[in-house]
This record gives sequence, structure tokens and C-alpha cells, in this order.
Amino acid sequence: MIDIHSHLLPNIDDGSPSLAASLDLAQQAVADGVTHVLMTPHHMNEKYENPKASVIAATAAFQAELDANEIPLTVFPSQEIRLTRGLLDELAAGELLGADENAKYLLIEFPDNVVPDYAGQYFYELQRLGHTPIIAHPERNTAIINNPELLKDLLKQGALAQLTASSYVGTFGTMVAEFAEQLVAANWVNFVVSDAHVLPGRKYEMTAALQKLGSQRAAEYEANAKAAVNGTPIKRAPMAASLTKPSLFKRLFSK
Ligand SMILES: [Fe+2]
Repeated sequence: MIDIHSHLLPNIDDGSPSLAASLDLAQQAVADGVTHVLMTPHHMNEKYENPKASVIAATAAFQAELDANEIPLTVFPSQEIRLTRGLLDELAAGELLGADENAKYLLIEFPDNVVPDYAGQYFYELQRLGHTPIIAHPERNTAIINNPELLKDLLKQGALAQLTASSYVGTFGTMVAEFAEQLVAANWVNFVVSDAHVLPGRKYEMTAALQKLGSQRAAEYEANAKAAVNGTPIKRAPMAASLTKPSLFKRLFSK
């Protein structure tokens, strides 16, 4: 199993606070059936700056620790890049890492609970330059929960989206889980990932999520993760025109 979103590198963002915690998370990943993990520390998110060279060095050092501790996990350098007005400059400066070596696929997170009004314009420009944005955890963004069309428009324009395994199996509560289920059913997400941090109640739940997806979608998502890491084309299942029902949030609060 390949996990294309994690915060396993020690001491560089809100993920793992120490090498010991990182090795512990790595062991959890292996126990969950994961063989390859992308290291995706936050970059440009106001609090954390993790430019390309430093992530590459930290990932190599972590791989050496994994090997020394005989933990059978292969790690690759990447980033979770905050969408800001500085994104295209950072790309031009060569400071961004993708899921693959040529940065064909870029993992993009939106500012908390917002979809910036320039997202469509910036995504268009990224794609014109040969980079496909992969939207991180749309199921936890309240702007998208309130108005799923915001996500749909970006997907129709060519972006991809990934679901956090914990969201899908219910760790973030019923509202997020139900919304995640709807996104899966509508083919509005293309991957399931751990987004592993060291947080109470957060653990590796990739196997549980894949089991819940059922064998066909699990195989599809696993193939997509492999294609992202290899920088090869990703098969997009046909998107439903809309979600089956308004989000639980809307149903509860629009009365
Ligand atoms: Fe993340």
C-alpha cells in the first residue's frame, strides 16, 4: 500500500514531535500494510516553511533511521503546499516538491475552512504549466461542506482530490464521515491517504478505509496512488453531477 500524504518527518511541522514518535508512526504504517510513504510536511502555511532541499535532506536522514531500526518502509520527499498568492512564484523558483519526481502532481491544501476565490485561476495556471493539483482533505473544509459545488468546479477543471482515511471511517465525527461517503459515491475523490500526525485518537486507518471502500474502489484508489508517485496518468471515474443529499451540516442548520 502506498500512502501519499503524511507528517512523519520529525520536528518540522505539526506532525511528529520527535524521532521516536516518527519511528512509532512508521511502525504503525507498516502494521497497517503500508510499504511506501510520501513525506508531505506543510509548506507555506504561515507557520511552517519546508522548502524542497530541506525536505529532501530530512527524508534521506529519516530513511537512514528506518533502515537502522529495520523498519521496512520506503519514504519519499514531497510537500503539502498551502494555496497562497505566493504559490506560482515558489513553483517558478523550483522550491516545490510533487508526489512524483517531476512534480506532475502537487498536493495542495486550502487555508482553513476557505476556498480562496483565486483557486480556479491558480489551478488553471498550474495545469497550463503541466502540474495537476491534488486537493487535500476537502471533506474537512467547511466552505466545501456548505457548498460542494466549490469542489466540483475545481475537479471539472482538472484537479484531483484526496480523502483522509480517518475522516471516512468516522474519527472526525458523523458529519465529516457522511460527507466523505457522499464524495466517494459521486466519484469526487480519487485517493485515500493517512495524513498521519501524532494526535490523540489519530492512528493509521488505511486498511479500515480501503475495506470500507469495497474492493473495486479500493483497487482504483490504490492504482491512483501508485500513478501519482510514478507521475503517470490517473484514471478518473465519471463524476456524478451532484451529491445525493445536502450535507448533514446543512440539514441540521438550515431549518
Ligand atoms: Fe496534511
